[in-house]
Amino acid sequence: MKPQPARSDRLEDLLSGKTTTPSTVDLTTVDTPAGTPGDSAGATTPRELVETALAEFFESRRDQVAAVGGGYVSAVHDLTEFVLRGGKRVRPSFAWTAWLGAGGQPSGDAATAVIKACSSLELVQACALIHDDIIDASTTRRGSPTVHVALADRHRSAGWAGSSARFGESAAILLGDLALCWADDMLRESGVDADASSRVSPVWSSMRLEVLGGQLLDIEAEAGLDESVEAAMRVNRYKTAAYTVERPLHLGAALADASPELIAAFRSFGTDIGLAFQLRDDLLGVFGDPAVTGKPSGDDIREGKRTVLMAVALADADAQSAALIRTSLGDHELSEERIGEVRTVLTDLGAVDDVERRISDLTERAFVTLDNSDCEPGAAEQLRRMGTAATQRQY
Ligand code: IPE
Ligand code: IPE
Ligand code: MG
Ligand code: MG
Repeated sequence: MKPQPARSDRLEDLLSGKTTTPSTVDLTTVDTPAGTPGDSAGATTPRELVETALAEFFESRRDQVAAVGGGYVSAVHDLTEFVLRGGKRVRPSFAWTAWLGAGGQPSGDAATAVIKACSSLELVQACALIHDDIIDASTTRRGSPTVHVALADRHRSAGWAGSSARFGESAAILLGDLALCWADDMLRESGVDADASSRVSPVWSSMRLEVLGGQLLDIEAEAGLDESVEAAMRVNRYKTAAYTVERPLHLGAALADASPELIAAFRSFGTDIGLAFQLRDDLLGVFGDPAVTGKPSGDDIREGKRTVLMAVALADADAQSAALIRTSLGDHELSEERIGEVRTVLTDLGAVDDVERRISDLTERAFVTLDNSDCEPGAAEQLRRMGTAATQRQY
């Protein structure tokens, strides 16, 4: 599914609280994983269940938000729309599939609670993305203006006092914070039993700590502290792999009370697939089609992102190519023509092929780990498909 700038009927239903939870929740169909195109009409897919759970959660907070009143209502509406308009739902998909892979049942009360717990990952993701777009000064996300840009636009068009940009960023920081608080609330209120909840708690804590650490290391790398490939891989591990694949799998497995061996296998698989997922993101950040990614192409260069792609290129570059890369990184006014030159240099230096090779190697290693694990066969097959989709995606 491409990012959808236009509001779908389903989004309207979700936003208006007209959500329909099936009376019998059957989660047997583990389709529509990360990066797989469209759901079949009317099917109750895990994706729809995740979106319905999120919509119900927002609905549960509606009165409290209204009681605070003022602009809070429309700002929270923006957050709701951002979450429900959605992305690929990678994190809940991995968590849910790990639950099944560890022997969790696809339907019944426990499954309903687990879907809610898995869905709360999308609120962590909302916080991560909203704050990330401020940090990276990104203007487009999921095919629409980023949250801070949309809020700044509202400030500007309403003619409010003060700096519109500052208002937008301030409001978006608060909405990101709210999303993270609500992620905690949604997990706690999911209905998973006390034992499962205490197994999940340390996983959740680690995930939050890791993603924030990864983001910090990322901005330090941009500040030029370390341009080695190792440093860039470390950033990828913590800013992306941990909260996108490794910990969601760990969470789903912990909910199902999986064995330590299966948890270790999921974490290893998740780290490798998560790293490959971010390496793909690094390639898309420079070579992706904005109409498909929903994010401007070349932004990674303008933002000065110290990706593995850049680190590999710099390690092999002659003085002239290195100078081109270094002076381009972080130049917000960089022309399309210069971006084209950087693309050519990255390709000619073999950096693109190198990153593609790393993606294949990581994915193959992850599949071997999975094949040697006790994961339920149906879920293992699904994880393979999801691993391929997440690392070969075009958006
Ligand atoms: C984007 O994550 C941020 C990264 C960690 C690369 P996704 O690519 O999963 O974004 P959405 O949720 O599908 O929009
Ligand atoms: C995003 O990393 C990681 C988190 C949101 C935690 P990037 O900044 O590299 O990802 P995009 O390209 O903006 O999605
Ligand atoms: Mg970013
Ligand atoms: Mg970033």
